[in-house]
This record gives sequence, C-alpha cells and structure tokens, in this order.
Amino acid sequence: MAGLKIRRVLVAGNWKMYKGPAETRAFLATFEPPDGVEVVLCPPYVSLTAAVESGLSVFAQNVHWAQEGAFTGEVSAAMLVELGVQGALVGHSERRQYFGETDETVARRVVAALGAGLRVIACVGESEEEREAGQTELILRLQAEAVRDAVGEHERLVIAYEPVWAIGTGKTATAEQAQEAHAFVKSLLDRPVLYGGSVKPENAAELLGEPDVDGALVGGASLDPGSFAAICRAAVR
Ligand code: PGA
Repeated sequence: MAGLKIRRVLVAGNWKMYKGPAETRAFLATFEPPDGVEVVLCPPYVSLTAAVESGLSVFAQNVHWAQEGAFTGEVSAAMLVELGVQGALVGHSERRQYFGETDETVARRVVAALGAGLRVIACVGESEEEREAGQTELILRLQAEAVRDAVGEHERLVIAYEPVWAIGTGKTATAEQAQEAHAFVKSLLDRPVLYGGSVKPENAAELLGEPDVDGALVGGASLDPGSFAAICRAAVR
C-alpha cells in the first residue's frame, strides 16, 4: 500500500459519551501508550482540546458535512481542524441506530471530512438479525460501497468493521469471523480495516493476529488507561 499515511496498526479508543475535560486529563496523566502502534483517542467534543494537549492523535466521534450553517448541535470539519483534531469517526452504529444516520449521510460526512484534510474511520457492521438471516455480506457491501462510491480508496480513509451484536455486549466476533468480514470489506474497498466490538486486553492479540485485522476500535476497554494501554501493547508488531 504505497503512499499510505497511516501506520499499518492503529488502535483507536472511542470514549462515546464518557469523560469531560477533567477526566480526560486524569486519564492522560497515567496513560502510557507503547511505541510501534498508532494510538488515537476519540473523546466527546468538549474534551477534544484537553486530549489534543497530550500530543496523541485525536479524532472526533462525528463531523457534519456542511462548512457552517444553521445546523444546531453539529460541528464542522473546519472547526475540528482549528482545534488540532486529526480525524473523525463516521457512521458508528450508535449514530445509525439512535440518531438516524444513513449510508447517504455517512457518505456526505466522509466527503466533507476528507475534503477538509481530516482522516476518517468509517464504521460498517451487521446487526445480529442480519447475521442470522445470512445478510452480513449484503449489509457490509451496502455500507462499504456507499463510502467507496463517495470517496474511493482515499489515502486518509480507514474502515472499522464493528458487528453491532458485539458492541458493548461482551460478545466478541471470533478471530475467524473478523478475518472473514475484513477480507470481504477489503475486496470492496482496499483500505485498512480495524475491528471493533468488545475488544479487551484478553482477546486483542488473537484478533490483531489475523492478517486482515489492521487495528482495533475500542469502546468500553478504552476508558481505563491500564486496559487501553494493554490493548495497544497487544497491537505492537
Ligand atoms: P465496545 O465498543 O468496545 O465497548 O464494544 C466498540 C465501539 O462501539 O466502538
């Protein structure tokens, strides 16, 4: 992958709606990331500045598609750039499930973020019902192609495969399930693919040992500096 700006293994901590600025600074006071892996923090908007001060790579958890305008509650890519934020998550399943995010709005957000010079982690993944109905590849195809058709194999784009049934449930995809889904996504869109869904220090090495697992997107286990550092160490190659 010539020209790839992102080191091959990337571990991102998605804090969701946890940790204001004070808790962010407390986390950073004890968090010791290892060398040899790129670590990204995705705190809530209000904690972005506190996280940027640490010198680590910081991504927002979402980004709007317009440069500015009457969009109450939204934040633009240019505003994130101004804060020193390097990228954004887009299309997390919680955005899709609770906030009406669609493949179309995901694509618009990805276009705007990349256009502003940000990096993007675009999330895809099937629900439990979809997996049981044998629709995993169909859903991954729809979601990944929406992004591919909008921006192609952009060098600042990374995909996260997050099976919805594994997020926050303690149920992790097996390494084989993850590998199979990652290889499928890469057959549609040749970009690095992170695995997300109940990644913990105990299962990180096995998941990250698969050839097409290029890193991890970690929710719950990224909230504790010790467990997040242990996952980052498991990703060192
Ligand atoms: P989890 O969340 O690690 O708590 O399952 C992952 C995510 O939602 O990104």
